[in-house]
Formats: sequence, C-alpha cells, structure tokens
Amino acid sequence: MNNFSFYSPTYFVFGNERENEAGKYVKRFGGTRVLIHYGGGSVLKNGLLDRVKASLSVEGVTFSELGGVVPNPRSGVVYKGIEICKNEKIDFILAVGGGSVIDSAKAIALGALYDGDFWDFYTGKQSVEKALPVATILTISAAGSEGSTGSVITHEDGMLKRAANGDALRPVFSVLNPELTASLPDYQIACGVTDMMAHVMERYFTNTQNVEITDRISEAVLLTVISEAPKALANREYDALANIMWAGMVAHNDTCGVGRDSDWATHMMEHELSGLYDVAHGAGLAVMFPAWMKYVMKHDVMRFAQFAVRVWGCEMDFQHPEKTALQGIERYEQFVSSIGMPIRFSQLGAKAEDIPTLVKTMGLGENTLGSFVKLTEEDIRKIYELAV
Ligand code: NZQ
Ligand code: ZN
Repeated sequence: MNNFSFYSPTYFVFGNERENEAGKYVKRFGGTRVLIHYGGGSVLKNGLLDRVKASLSVEGVTFSELGGVVPNPRSGVVYKGIEICKNEKIDFILAVGGGSVIDSAKAIALGALYDGDFWDFYTGKQSVEKALPVATILTISAAGSEGSTGSVITHEDGMLKRAANGDALRPVFSVLNPELTASLPDYQIACGVTDMMAHVMERYFTNTQNVEITDRISEAVLLTVISEAPKALANREYDALANIMWAGMVAHNDTCGVGRDSDWATHMMEHELSGLYDVAHGAGLAVMFPAWMKYVMKHDVMRFAQFAVRVWGCEMDFQHPEKTALQGIERYEQFVSSIGMPIRFSQLGAKAEDIPTLVKTMGLGENTLGSFVKLTEEDIRKIYELAV
C-alpha cells in the first residue's frame, strides 16, 4: 500500500426530509449571506427550492439565487455566479441539485476568492488552495461531487471539459435525502449508477500491490450497486435509493482509492465525448469502459480475473485466466446495457470520423494518460475505435 494523506471533512446529513435542516447547518458552518445555486428546474417543480429557502429564512440567513446550470455545466453561469458573489459579498454557496450544479458551485466558490479567470484552476495554471465554503443538497446519486475534491466544467470557448481538484473543494456539509432521487427518470438513475461504478473501477485497476482493504471496499460498493440498481429502477424503493446514494458518495470521496494509484484514463476519454456531443457523463462511461478494459486487460489478467470472480461471480478458469477476465468485462457490459445504457458509439450519437478530433482536443501530445497502463495518443485512438 502507498503512503497517503486523507482529509475528508464533509458533514453528511442523511435521510428523509433532512433538507429542511439546511438553514441550521448553513449557520453552523458560518454562512450568513448565501448564494443558492440550482439547475434547470427540477428543484422548482418538486418544491425543494421553496423548502430550502424556508429553512434558511427560519434561521435568519439571507440569500441570493442563481439557477440555469445545465448538465455538463458551462463557464457562462460560473462567470455570472462569481460576479454575484463579489458584488453581494456572498460568504457561502449552497448547491441544490446534481453533480453539474455542485461542480458549478465549486467553480464559483473558487472564482469568488480569485482576481484572475476562474478557468486558470481548470487548465492547471493555478492550484486549488482556497474557495468559499460550498454545501450541497443532492438530488441525484451519481458524480459523487457531494463528497469529492473535484469540479468539472465545460468552457464555452472551445467546449473544453476540464477538471479542477483540491481539498478546498470538498463540501462542508451535504444533505443526502434518497427520497429526492425518486423523481429521476430511469435513464438518469442508470447514468448515475454507471458513473459511480466507474469511480470505483478507475481505482480498482491499479498497479499498487497488497491493497486488500480498498479492493474489498470497492467490491462491496460494486456488489451493492449491482443488486440495488434494478430495485431502484423497478419501483423507486426507498432502501434501494438509500443504498445507491451512499454508494455514490463512498465511490468517489476516495475511501476506495487511498493508498493505491488510480487510473482515470477512461474518465478523461469520456470527458472529450461529453464535451463534444453533450451526452450524459454516465452514458459516455458505459461506452468507454468496456473498450478500455478490453484494450488493457493483458497488462494484468489476474486483476481482471479477480474482478470477474469477486464482483460478477464468474468461475475462475485456472488454465485460461484470460477467459475469466474477459467474462468479467462482458458481464459488466451486459449489466450496464440491462439498465438502459448505451455500449457503442452509435447508441451515444458519437461518430467514428470524429475520433481524430477527440484525440487532438485532449491535447496529450507526447505525454501519456492513465497509470494502470500509460496510454499514448495512438492507444487512445485504438480504444475509441474499439468503442465504435
Ligand atoms: O437541471 P435539473 O432540472 O435539476 O435536471 C437535472 C439534469 O437534467 C436532472 N435531475 C437532477 N436531479 C433530479 C433531476 N430530475 C428529476 N429529479 C431529480 N431529483 O438530472 C439531470 C442530470 O443532472 P446532473 O447534475 O448533470 O447529473 P450528475 O450528477 O450525473 O452530474 C454530471 C456532471 O458531473 C461531472 C460530470 O462530468 C458531469 O458534468 N462529474 C463530476 C465529478 C466530481 N465533481 O467529482 C466526478 C465525476 O466523474 C463527473 O465527471
Ligand atoms: Zn465520473
């Protein structure tokens, strides 16, 4: 196991109707003048925004509002939010929504305390050191941004989708009410499930040896999601939604990743897809993960065989472990397909002729991507082709 530091200070408030306590927690974490940030309208339709505002008012916390965040959140709204924060002396941002809203809130939180362009944090020109406190009321189990150090934004100038990372971006508190996710369409639930599985797998396929604890936690998260997703999809069973919601957090706050190298090549390849075609991140991952797995499997057949046996219940073929490994990949592909995810470029609306553009936009040059196998631009082109 590698040495590691792990700072994960988010206070989680989990359970039915707990969003009504938002005002109390904003106050506890020092918010006096809040920017409430939200998306395209689901929180207006279901009354969630009104309930949150009421809970702030009860505590005497004043607030401004900024809605309009779209999936694959854009820079335009971020610039608007930063201006509001600076003009109105906002000292706390409350994101009410999914990963897109939370990531937009984190970007605003960075930009509000910075004199330059917030995009500097996303191009690596500036490292993340400080940000306004962000809290979340989560409405979709997926990206894990409610407990993560990350924020992913698409800049409208060039539609580049890029990430910023740093401890200052961990939410100070997150309200997780599984019931709020019951209104999601099946497709969004499935995208979310696929994303959280991907967050685990990016960490699972590692070259770090002797990491049994994080292997086993990862397998538990995957097994949970595999068994609960069909129940959540079938009838929005509360306990299924609850297990999935916590799984999504555990999948990405790095509980599964500490002490081991993580890969992230598939996420980077997917970000190019959702940047170019504006597809749901989870759907892009469903297409890219099997392709990446097939391409890198030979690098460590036994790790893929372990994945097949422990997660998918495949029988180990000791004579031909590569057969077991491949079976695991196929079972994964069948699973995401069974919950309604695309597994091919065409199902996603992506085109083979765009592959050179996808590779070029990534801007890798002579560098490599990922750590399990260090991929060159040529490897990446071949992986995209496997997904066609
Ligand atoms: O905008 P509204 O009207 O709320 O609609 C949203 C949106 O259309 C809808 N929705 C959310 N909660 C709902 C609901 N509809 C009905 N009922 C509810 N309760 O769902 C749609 C998708 O929402 P979005 O926030 O985009 O989903 P998700 O949480 O999957 O976030 C995706 C974004 O997160 C990034 C992705 O790249 C993508 O941009 N990621 C962020 C990460 C991080 N910060 O750590 C890590 C991830 O790997 C990921 O890259
Ligand atoms: Zn993801």
